[in-house]
Amino acid sequence: MKDKSIAPTMRERIMREDDFIVSKTDPKGIITYCNPIFIEFSGYAEDELLGTQHNIIRHPDMPRAAFKLAWDTIQAGREFFAYVKNMSKDGGFYWVFTHITPDFGPRGDIVGYTSVRRCPKREALDKVAPVYQQMLAAETAAGARDAIAAGTGVLVGLLKQTGMSYEELVFSL
Ligand SMILES: Cc1cc2nc3c(=O)[nH]c(=O)nc-3n(C[C@H](O)[C@H](O)[C@H](O)COP(=O)(O)O)c2cc1C
Repeated sequence: MKDKSIAPTMRERIMREDDFIVSKTDPKGIITYCNPIFIEFSGYAEDELLGTQHNIIRHPDMPRAAFKLAWDTIQAGREFFAYVKNMSKDGGFYWVFTHITPDFGPRGDIVGYTSVRRCPKREALDKVAPVYQQMLAAETAAGARDAIAAGTGVLVGLLKQTGMSYEELVFSL
């Protein structure tokens, strides 16, 4: 379970060019595998990660609507790309560029998910961070019940403004 007592700090860990942070989950998102680099960046031991949800590394700066979009996409059987700010066990943070894919069983059913995270482009983060800030501000102002709709509204507005799809926007950064 997520330890809500962890206070976020300004300590940043920066992914190296050739790092891949990998994890696998069951269909509910319970972690079934993580690689040594996941352990290094998250600061958790393998036995603290296996059997838990990825929200153990959720950073409070991330808007809820971003995860809603992620889950809607992968549960529909599609791949999902995003820049994500994660939180380590000591409260520090690390940015990743993530790719999440559904894993299909022999009958085409989703048997789990795999995430591979690479080093994000710094110039992309300069653009993504303010968007997440706006989404989060809208979510906070809307209150818990309407948060996801409010955060999604900010993102949809931005997509309309740019005339791009979500994926086009992510890859344009
Ligand atoms: C394969 C996979 C990888 C994920 N990776 C992350 C991650 O790196 N960071 C994160 O905060 N959430 C990740 N999530 C999303 C979490 O399941 C969860 O939706 C998110 O942390 C928000 O949690 P909350 O709604 O309990 O706040 C991942 C989900 C899946 C299926």
